[in-house]
Amino acid sequence: MFDTMSKILGKPFYEAPNCAIYNMDCLEGLRRIQSPFIDLTVTSPPYNIGKEYEQVRPLDEYLNWCQEWMQEVHRLTLDNGALWLNLGYIAVEQKAKAIPIPYLLWNRVPFFLIQEVVWNYGAGVAGRKFFSPRNEKFLWYVKDENNYTFNLDAVRDPNIRYPNQKKHGKIKVNPNGKNPSDVWQIPKVTSGQSRSSKERTPHPAQFPQAVIERIIKASSNLDEAVFDPFLGSGTTALVALGLGRKTLGFEINTPYCQIAANRIDCFLTKSKVAGEQMEFLNELFVEWESQ
Ligand SMILES: C[S@@+](CC[C@H](N)C(=O)[O-])C[C@H]1O[C@@H](n2cnc3c(N)ncnc32)[C@H](O)[C@@H]1O
Repeated sequence: MFDTMSKILGKPFYEAPNCAIYNMDCLEGLRRIQSPFIDLTVTSPPYNIGKEYEQVRPLDEYLNWCQEWMQEVHRLTLDNGALWLNLGYIAVEQKAKAIPIPYLLWNRVPFFLIQEVVWNYGAGVAGRKFFSPRNEKFLWYVKDENNYTFNLDAVRDPNIRYPNQKKHGKIKVNPNGKNPSDVWQIPKVTSGQSRSSKERTPHPAQFPQAVIERIIKASSNLDEAVFDPFLGSGTTALVALGLGRKTLGFEINTPYCQIAANRIDCFLTKSKVAGEQMEFLNELFVEWESQ
């Protein structure tokens, strides 16, 4: 996959085993690729709300652009593949202060929508004339409603209130945990002197690794290809690599590509050191056993 990509797209900004980051406009990159390669896309596009990495455009233009890149993602997704799309809120002149973007976009894609998952977090802006917003949505789409990956056992929630509850003398609860439901309470990546998250980078809209971990475990398998067309600080790629997937991302902004590259390098160095330590311990153990 990576050799084919570099023939089509040129040398990536960053490459490591099972990973490539291209510093380019995702739509331009996607249009150049011919054959489906994506098992799972996990992404959060710009929301058209004036963040430092986007230029606000008229609403219709924004929605058309979203439709265009989502169609390309659909074309390049394998038959049993999926798209997890994270979306926030947008103002609609004279209509809405903050409309959930899924209301405007959900059926402008050829994918089949399995479910909307609510991601609920504790920190955020405080409302004065409205309730303080504390959630965003993930739309879980698949290419084929009858053939898609869902590894529920890999993401069960071990936090069971009544683990010994019985029915007809048998333990009722799955010992591996419960279905984590469609509301996920996972903290946001926060900034600020005393409350900054450990995983925080200078990127202003970073995914928490825990959210992406649940999605990748549930919706893909070992060695499959996980893609993020709006890679930002590289969270999707980082988590995908940690879970033994291949990963590819596009990011238009060079400093963000650099952040992603540094994060991944740091992770790979740590894993290499941990791997070497493990090998050393194994050798010691074998030696000790043979004495
Ligand atoms: C919401 S952020 C994604 C953050 C990411 N999920 C993370 O964990 O860091 C959207 C990203 O899309 C990038 N972007 C905007 N337009 C793009 C385009 N046309 N092609 C590729 N990347 C783009 C922005 O620079 C920004 O980093």
